[in-house]
Amino acid sequence: MSTLMILNGPNLNLLGTREPEQYGYETLADVEIMCREAAKAHGCKVDFRQSNHEGMLVDAIHEARELMLEGKLLGIVFNPGAYTHTSIALHDAIKGTEVPVIEVHISNVHAREAFRHHSYISPAATGIVIGMGAYGYVLGINGLITKLKK
Ligand code: DQA
Repeated sequence: MSTLMILNGPNLNLLGTREPEQYGYETLADVEIMCREAAKAHGCKVDFRQSNHEGMLVDAIHEARELMLEGKLLGIVFNPGAYTHTSIALHDAIKGTEVPVIEVHISNVHAREAFRHHSYISPAATGIVIGMGAYGYVLGINGLITKLKK
């Protein structure tokens, strides 16, 4: 069975209690359940991860490449959190591994502070889902699988 990696960056472990007016009341555990159900509908399973550390996220992308080369992984649905706006290392990891990545943001970053308007991830991403709440992860999964079928 093919696997999708769902990768979450810093502070996303706080979902449910963190600024609910921005991020809603779903916890990361709720998001994981939504992702597992969405992936299952496509006959896929999910490797669900979260880290507050940039290097761990880089390592996960490198690991995804190995799994992809072994035919075990289709791609990544990635919410990089605040590293979206700062991390050239994550940009380079996606470019360097050529793993298909769908960038997801729960909130509409373009309707927020100016420092959230720029993403280092977007130019390296296969697709982007912004501002659709936790449902954005499901859209990301469906979008990734649909794109890969083309
Ligand atoms: C976020 C948006 C980022 O600007 C922020 O730093 C996050 C979450 C989102 O899902 O809306 O941590 O990626």
